Amino acid sequence: MAVIAGNWKMHMGVADTRAFFAALTLQEGAGGNELLIFPPAVSLGAAATCPERDPRIQLGAQNIHWQDGGAFTGETSAAMACEAGASHVLVGHSERRHVFGETNEEVALKVAAGCRHGLVPVVCVGETLSERQDGRVDEVILAQLDAALEVLDGDDQRFMVAYEPVWAIGTGETATPDDAANAHRTLRTRLEAVLGIAAAVRTPILYGGSVKPANAAELLSASEVDGVLVGGASLDPQSFAEIAATGR
Ligand code: PGA
Repeated sequence: MAVIAGNWKMHMGVADTRAFFAALTLQEGAGGNELLIFPPAVSLGAAATCPERDPRIQLGAQNIHWQDGGAFTGETSAAMACEAGASHVLVGHSERRHVFGETNEEVALKVAAGCRHGLVPVVCVGETLSERQDGRVDEVILAQLDAALEVLDGDDQRFMVAYEPVWAIGTGETATPDDAANAHRTLRTRLEAVLGIAAAVRTPILYGGSVKPANAAELLSASEVDGVLVGGASLDPQSFAEIAATGR
C-alpha cells in the first residue's frame, strides 16, 4: 500500500475541481493505495460534495491557521476545513515556509490545531539547494520534524511526513531514489527514537518533488518511501490516475 497525494496548490477553482473528478477514472491497482487530494480551500466543499468523486479519494486542506477562529482575515481554521470535507491537512509545505515565511514554531502550532480537530497532519520537510550543498540536509529536516513531533497528541496521533527537497519542487529535478531513501531513513530513525518503533513504522513518509507517471514507480520502490506527494502532475486526471495505480 502506498499513499498517493495530490497537492493542487493555487490551481483548480470549483468548476475545474468538478471537471477533474468527472474525468478521473481510477485504474485497477489504485484500490490498494490511500488516495488524497489537497484542493484550494475554496474548492474543498465542491470536491467533498462532487457526486463524481470516487469516495476512495480523501480530501485535505493545503494550510490552516492555528487559532480556532477570530479576526484573522484571509485565514481558514482547522474546524472550517473539517466542515468543508477535509480529513487531512498539509502543514509546512515549502511554499508556505519559503514564500510566506512560515517558521518551525508556526508549523508546530498548525500541527497542534489540526490534531485538536481530528485532521491528519501531513508535515512537509525539506532542504534548499544551498543547505544541501552545505551538507546540512539532516540538520534542516530533523529540526523541521522535531518541531512538529513536540506537539503531537500522544503516540496514537495519526500523521504523515512528506520529504520534499525544495530544489526538486516544480523544477523537473527529482531526487534520486538513493537521495530519497537516505533522507527517509534519517526521518524514520528520528520517529523511532521519539515515538517508538511501532508508531514509526506506521507513520507514512512520502516523497515529493517533480513526481510524474514516468518516475513514480522508481521512487516508490526506494527504501522507506511509503508514498508520494505530487504537485503539477496531480492536476491532470490521466497522470494522477496513472500515479494512483502505482504500487510499492
Ligand atoms: P511538484 O510539486 O510535483 O510540482 O514538484 C510537489 C509539491 O510541491 O508538493
